[in-house]
Amino acid sequence: MNLYGRSFLTLLDFTPEEIRSLLDLARRLKREKHLRIGHRHLMGRNIVLLFEKTSTRTRCAFEVAGRDLGMGVTFLDPASSQMGRKESIEDTARVLGRMYDGIEYRGFSQNTVELLAKYSGVPVWNGLTDQFHPTQMLADLLTIDEHLHRLEGVRLTFMGDARNNVANSLMIACAKMGMHFTACAPASRFPDADLVKTAREIAVPNGGSVTLTTDVAEGTQGADVLYTDIWVSMGEPESVWKERIDLLRPYQVNAAAFENAAEDAIFMHCLPSYHDLKTEVGKQIHERFGLAEMEVTDEIFESERSVVFDEAENRLHTIKAVILATLSKQ
Ligand code: CP
Ligand code: NVA
Repeated sequence: MNLYGRSFLTLLDFTPEEIRSLLDLARRLKREKHLRIGHRHLMGRNIVLLFEKTSTRTRCAFEVAGRDLGMGVTFLDPASSQMGRKESIEDTARVLGRMYDGIEYRGFSQNTVELLAKYSGVPVWNGLTDQFHPTQMLADLLTIDEHLHRLEGVRLTFMGDARNNVANSLMIACAKMGMHFTACAPASRFPDADLVKTAREIAVPNGGSVTLTTDVAEGTQGADVLYTDIWVSMGEPESVWKERIDLLRPYQVNAAAFENAAEDAIFMHCLPSYHDLKTEVGKQIHERFGLAEMEVTDEIFESERSVVFDEAENRLHTIKAVILATLSKQ
């Protein structure tokens, strides 16, 4: 599978075979990392990471992956670069493309990451936009396969804000891999209708399906994976918290949801998560609305069903696979 020179902007651009080949490469790189077998295949190359939004996992995964591959890594945030304020995306892309072999971008608009790819002339990797989070999906697929030993036919239910970047991307990822995706959410937080239509068209020939339901019992029935994400995403105004809490409270992942799921069901979350009162935002929400845990209960988050830290680790191995596959002819 040759992905040399390609950008990684959304899973919509990749075939199931290409996704499988990236997962295979990630498995190999994970094994090598665990066995401390060096894999500095991109010695002397350089990448730049552009972050307009904050990050722990994605930034660290790109930094460590780049270094493990022998590359130089530059991190830029809005405060320390001209991008956007004093220089257009098009001009920034053309400058960075002259200096770097690849560009990661995390920010608001999907259009920005597409412009970077169009104008830079080097592979661009989407580290999250308001619309999609495709590198997260590779980690999620790898984690599901490691725990359930299959992807095809797996029933994944996303509970909560099914209109956000992670839910959008999961719907596409499941459709591509022949999985059964259910968005279990209030109708106003269902994914965009056009994207649902696209996902269904992809899912059917692959043997998968896309279901939308407001009914928690129906949505969680027999699920192999219960997945959730925070109720208010980066870039959304503080003022939506109250409305979101009122809307999404019934869609919390908790013991009752798991009782309805498959016997060996696993819990997944892209993280970060508000499952306790150990965060500033968690404490503020508790003071304002009396909620001690939000999208998932602490009980489920800390239970043996929860694979969230395997999922977080897999960000590193899968991001490394994307960098290696798109920057080398192998
Ligand atoms: N899951 C994820 O993208 O985490 P960060 O926001 O920490 O990068
Ligand atoms: N939906 C979340 C994902 C964070 C990884 C956000 O965009 O804030």
